[in-house]
Amino acid sequence: MSGSAQDGPGGSDGAGLAGTDGAVSPIEGIDERAVEASLRPADLSEFVGQPKVREQLQLVLESAMQRGRPPDHILLSGPPGLGKTSLAMITAAELGAPIRITSGPALERAGDLAALLTSLAPGEILFIDEIHRIARPAEELLYMAMEDFRVDVVIGKGPGATAIPLSLEPFTLVGATTRAGLLTGPLRDRFGFTAHMEFYEPEELDLVLRRSASLLGIDLRPDGSMEIAGRSRGTPRIANRLLRRVRDYAQVRGAGVVDAATARTALAIYDVDEIGLDRLDRAVLDALVRRFHGGPVGVATLAVAVGEEIETVESVAEPFLVRAGLLARTPRGRVATPAAWTHLGLPRPPGAGGQLGAAGPALF
Ligand SMILES: Nc1ncnc2c1ncn2[C@@H]1O[C@H](COP(=O)(O)OP(=O)(O)OP(=O)(O)O)[C@@H](O)[C@H]1O
Ligand SMILES: [Mg+2]
Repeated sequence: MSGSAQDGPGGSDGAGLAGTDGAVSPIEGIDERAVEASLRPADLSEFVGQPKVREQLQLVLESAMQRGRPPDHILLSGPPGLGKTSLAMITAAELGAPIRITSGPALERAGDLAALLTSLAPGEILFIDEIHRIARPAEELLYMAMEDFRVDVVIGKGPGATAIPLSLEPFTLVGATTRAGLLTGPLRDRFGFTAHMEFYEPEELDLVLRRSASLLGIDLRPDGSMEIAGRSRGTPRIANRLLRRVRDYAQVRGAGVVDAATARTALAIYDVDEIGLDRLDRAVLDALVRRFHGGPVGVATLAVAVGEEIETVESVAEPFLVRAGLLARTPRGRVATPAAWTHLGLPRPPGAGGQLGAAGPALF
């Protein structure tokens, strides 16, 4: 495990990269914890969107309560800011169970985890954020704990070491990960229920925004809400953040009312365009289209053209450009899709964009 243990439970992979502190970064800012906590939905009925996950989780929780047993272990997987931590808290709230919160990077030694596990109350929820970053010895301890509610605590070192088996109270592990692919098979198999979080539709973000506005006492008008929702990259965390930035503007320069016009002006100041691209995203797209005529071009060349690190272009700008259908990653390099020219308001020259042709990216 190479990840530093310094970023707290809320930090996700990619935190600390240049460019991730922008208005549309999905990563939680360090000063954002308090306000996010105040906006967290308290129970499943307040949790907007994700109808599939909500229904499945509700069945898991309700049937467990009927049986009077803790539910199966739950894995929440999906990109940052979509509500994994919120769902973990909601799980505890719905069960009326206490919750203990830790994170993969914090569990470096098996002993730390053993101490935690043996102190759990019956039915307690153990939430491990960023569970893909758990150290191997702790992970191995977790296998037996999850399966048999048992741990072997090793006392002493070398040939004289003895393993003392301890039994645990039945508990439910809720793991969250932005990188489910990095989980080992044995760990993944021990979760009885896995929820895959999807990006939100603008109509769902509209509901998130209305709820947040009323909690924060913001006069948010329906057109203002939709304007912000459309620029939030399908991510509630971004929607809530843009709402606060538009609120600032409305308060200082306007009449305190957040309508579509206010949102447009305010978000122009923060370099967030109509579909949620920020300065770096647009610089990458612009370089790809104007300087390299739509590609294909290697990511290293593209990074030099926009004056950024390769890693920043790859992990900060590209994922959303790909998801928005503006850029495709091909074996020959990065290619602009026809939608990229449209978005930049440019005519697309014939033959541009390599072999992608008018059919658009074949990757979706
Ligand atoms: N379905 C939802 N309904 C209402 N608000 C939501 C929803 N999902 C997320 N939010 C809001 O978005 C913010 C971020 O959510 P949360 O912290 O749960 O995301 P996460 O998936 O745990 O992110 P990370 O991967 O960075 O840990 C919270 O403040 C929460 O209020
Ligand atoms: Mg989280």
